[in-house]
Amino acid sequence: MIYSPNPDRYNTMLYRRVGNSGLKLPAISLGFWHNFGAKESLESSKEKTLYAFDHGICHFDLANNYGPPPGSAESVFGEILKKDLLPFRDEITIATKAGWQMWPGPYGDFGSRKYLIASLDQSLKRMGLEYVDIFYHHRRDPETPLEETMQALDYIVRSGRALYVGISSYDAPSTQQAYDLLKSMGTPCLIHQPQYNMFNRSLEGELHRVLIQNKIGCITFSPLAQGLLTDRYLNGIPKDSRVKKSIFLTENQVEESMQKVTQLHQIAKNRNQKLSQMALAFNLRLDAVSSVLIGASHVSQIQDAIGSLQNLDFSAEELQAIDRILNPS
Ligand SMILES: NC(=O)c1ccc[n+]([C@@H]2O[C@H](COP(=O)([O-])OP(=O)(O)OC[C@H]3O[C@@H](n4cnc5c(N)ncnc54)[C@H](OP(=O)(O)O)[C@@H]3O)[C@@H](O)[C@H]2O)c1
Repeated sequence: MIYSPNPDRYNTMLYRRVGNSGLKLPAISLGFWHNFGAKESLESSKEKTLYAFDHGICHFDLANNYGPPPGSAESVFGEILKKDLLPFRDEITIATKAGWQMWPGPYGDFGSRKYLIASLDQSLKRMGLEYVDIFYHHRRDPETPLEETMQALDYIVRSGRALYVGISSYDAPSTQQAYDLLKSMGTPCLIHQPQYNMFNRSLEGELHRVLIQNKIGCITFSPLAQGLLTDRYLNGIPKDSRVKKSIFLTENQVEESMQKVTQLHQIAKNRNQKLSQMALAFNLRLDAVSSVLIGASHVSQIQDAIGSLQNLDFSAEELQAIDRILNPS
C-alpha cells in the first residue's frame, strides 16, 4: 500500500529554532540508537517511524554505529525511506554521526579526516541518500588535532555530503574551540548534542553558557535516562525492557534510582502528567534546548512524548521540589 501521511501532521507539534540558524526542529525528535537495528522487526521500526512522521516528528537521529549490529539502524532507516518516506525527503531532517568505533584498524574510530569522510560515505550508502541534513562528530578525540576534525566537518559541508554540522558530548572548552574553528572556516557549528536529564544535569553549567553566548543550538539525548525517568520500572524489570536487552542500562541503575523516581512520580501526577512527560518538559525548559531526542520501543511511548507538550511550564516551587529530590543535601 502506498503510504499517505496524516495531512494534519504539522498542526500540533511545536517547532523551535536551532540556535541562530534558519533551521527549526520539532520539540520531540526520534533517535535510532536502540529499537531500530536488524534484530527488531522491520514492521515495528516502520510503524514507529511513520507514527512519528504522522505527528510532526520530522527529525530522525542516527549514527554509523547504531544497531545492533553497527550500521543496521541506518540500513533499516534506508529501507523505510525507500519504501515510504523518500517522497517527503524535503520535509525531513536526517542526522548521522561518526566518532565511536565502527570498523577495525586505525581508521575506523575517533576524529581523523580519513575516518569521518569514509564513514559518512558509508552512512549515505546504507541510507540510500545523497546528503544528510546534519552530520555530527560523535565525541571529542583526545589525540587528533581539533583543527583536523573541524576541517573535515567544513569539507563535508562544502562537498555537499551534509547541509549542517554539529558536535556531540563535547565539554564546554572544546565546544568553544570547535565553534571558533568552524567559524574561521565559514561553516557554522549548528548544534550540540549532549546528554541531559533530571539525573545528569551537567549541561546546566558552563556548557549551557557557551551554547547561549555563541547561539549554538542544542538537542539533548537520553532525556528519560534510557527509561529510568518513566513508569517502566515501577513494578520490577520487564522482560522486554532496555535493561534486559542492552548493556547500557543495568539492574543496579534501576535499583539505585527507584526511590527518587517514585518521588518524582508524585510531582508529575500533581502536574497531570506522566513522569516521562515531565522529564521531557524538564529538558525543554532550558533556553538553549530546541529539541529532545527520545528513544522508543513502542508507538505508545512516542504518543506519551508528544503529550508532554501539553504542559511545558514549571513553577518555581515545582523546580525546587524536583531539586530537593535529586539533591537532598
Ligand atoms: N550522541 C550520543 O552520544 C548519543 C548517545 C545516546 C543516545 N543518543 C541519541 O538519543 C536517542 C535517545 O536516547 P535514549 O534511547 O537513551 O533516550 P531515552 O528517551 O532516555 O530512553 C528511551 C527508552 O526509554 C523507555 N521509554 C521511552 N518512553 C517511555 C514511556 N513513555 N514509558 C515508559 N518507558 C519509556 C524505552 O525503553 P524500553 O526499551 O525499555 O521500552 C525507550 O527505549 C538515541 O536513539 C540516539 O539517537 C545519542
